[in-house]
Amino acid sequence: MENNNSKEANIPPTSENQKGKVTPADIKTPTGSRQDILNEFTRLAQEIEATQQIGRKKFNEFIKKKDIQATKALEPSLESDIGPEMPIDGDYVNGSRVFMRNCASCHSLEASNQGRNAVMGPALGLIYGKKAGSDKYFNYSDSYVHSQKYWTERFLFKYLQNPKAEFPDTKCLIKGGGLSEEGERADIAKFLRLFSKNLRINLENKAKKNFGKDYIQAYNQAQVKANESQYRNIRERNNN
Ligand code: HEC
Repeated sequence: MENNNSKEANIPPTSENQKGKVTPADIKTPTGSRQDILNEFTRLAQEIEATQQIGRKKFNEFIKKKDIQATKALEPSLESDIGPEMPIDGDYVNGSRVFMRNCASCHSLEASNQGRNAVMGPALGLIYGKKAGSDKYFNYSDSYVHSQKYWTERFLFKYLQNPKAEFPDTKCLIKGGGLSEEGERADIAKFLRLFSKNLRINLENKAKKNFGKDYIQAYNQAQVKANESQYRNIRERNNN
């Protein structure tokens, strides 16, 4: 007596079942003893578990990094440079030129990288006074995420000479490894400080115009409270 399965299995490959359609003839019966087959299954299960563990570890590390960035983003920015004065006074207009020439290919002057993938580096529109590695929408190298430095004029001035010195794993690849000219570095630092300050004021004014001054003031106050509690939650989560 013929059963349906063996009948189907004997059908020779046609042009149709060759086009990626699995027929019973394609399914190979495992060979070897029952123990061999069990061993093979155990091995596969262990392999899958190991791969999952690596994935889980990577994922947890990623979440931890994002938490640190999010915490930093909630911290208040510096209002002004602390520490010694700049060695030379920068020039805003020349700073904007040097920026366009050396930095704009990788950095936008937007407020943040939210929803933007067109650029290679983090947005620098509000960089002045923020902590390094604090745009939560950008995936930084580790050294930025763990840095506690603020982007002051003085720190920018130092950084731009050789980003690798402060951040060994940096992907901020400035032509020639850095800007050797003091004047250019002072100009960019000044440009980024004043640009950040103006963008902050412009964004605030725009919001007040769109939604009303009272609403924005209330919103800002609520935001400070929300930030505080979010900050506490992330801290608690990381301490556990
Ligand atoms: C080849 C692309 C490239 C160029 C050119 C470049 N950068 Fe970067 N920059 C990056 C990347 C990518 C990062 C993120 C670093 C990381 O995660 O390793 C970065 C990081 C930074 C940061 C830190 C931002 C933060 O949120 O902490 C600053 C500041 C910065 N760059 C300034 C500059 C300036 C100023 C110039 C021009 C003189 C410049 N960069 C040129 C790619 C570039």
